[in-house]
Amino acid sequence: MAGSEAAVIGVFDSGVGGLSVVRALRQQLPEHRLMYVADQAHVPYGPRSLEEVRAFSGEITRFLLAQGAALVVVACNTASAAALQHLRQAFPDTPFVGMEPAVKPAAEQTRSGVVGVLATPATFQGELYASVVERFAQGVTVLQDTCPGLVKEIEAGRLQGREARRILEFALHPMLDKGIDTVVLGCTHYPFVIPLIEEIVGSAVRVIDPAPAVARQAAHLLAERGLTGARRTQPDRFWTTGDPATLMDSLQALLGESAPRTGGLRWNGRRLSVVD
Ligand code: DGL
Repeated sequence: MAGSEAAVIGVFDSGVGGLSVVRALRQQLPEHRLMYVADQAHVPYGPRSLEEVRAFSGEITRFLLAQGAALVVVACNTASAAALQHLRQAFPDTPFVGMEPAVKPAAEQTRSGVVGVLATPATFQGELYASVVERFAQGVTVLQDTCPGLVKEIEAGRLQGREARRILEFALHPMLDKGIDTVVLGCTHYPFVIPLIEEIVGSAVRVIDPAPAVARQAAHLLAERGLTGARRTQPDRFWTTGDPATLMDSLQALLGESAPRTGGLRWNGRRLSVVD
């Protein structure tokens, strides 16, 4: 596709968490235009049923493809756990990149043999998580915590607040007592509180953000399918099923974006439409 615009990448999450993946995609694939959907009418996804998250994910994917996305990054561990397999079947011509908790690198790198995973209840319930633990964490103790309420704090931009600290201390202190030397961030919202996590666990504990590996996988699929091209001419586009002005504030706070293009989407039953 030399000379034409590089393929557009569709990205979605329940809210602002997927912006941690956007950050990595922009670093590694700056020539690709991104289209992002934050399903903030339904955030958090974590406590919802897998069926419900699967239905949201299918419709958001349909919307992104209709807008011209050539590859879709499911920048949400919960949606990946609930829907990735299903999306690949429903949209067989579309390449997908999903999130899976980075248990494999954690198990390879741990010296103490004890690792902690922070993710949502739905992610822990999904088959994907069971399968990565089964395949890659033999002989390693894997401790888990769902950090109830943390996604809400991050959505509200309270990245250093008292409540976020309380939730993280409650999750991480027992893990530290049991000897963790590695923390896996199994929710795309959590990289935004890495400074707080590092304050709690100290410098001897490694914190794994899977976003760079996900961006590398997207780069690999784009190259394999010949979807690279000339530098893009248009800015990235962000939609939310919540309030576009709030999303704009989050983009400025989390990504340092000066004038992001945000728009509104509305759920009409199970269908999404653009708010004019
Ligand atoms: N950012 C999401 C994840 O990676 C979802 C968090 C939520 O909505 O509960 O799991």
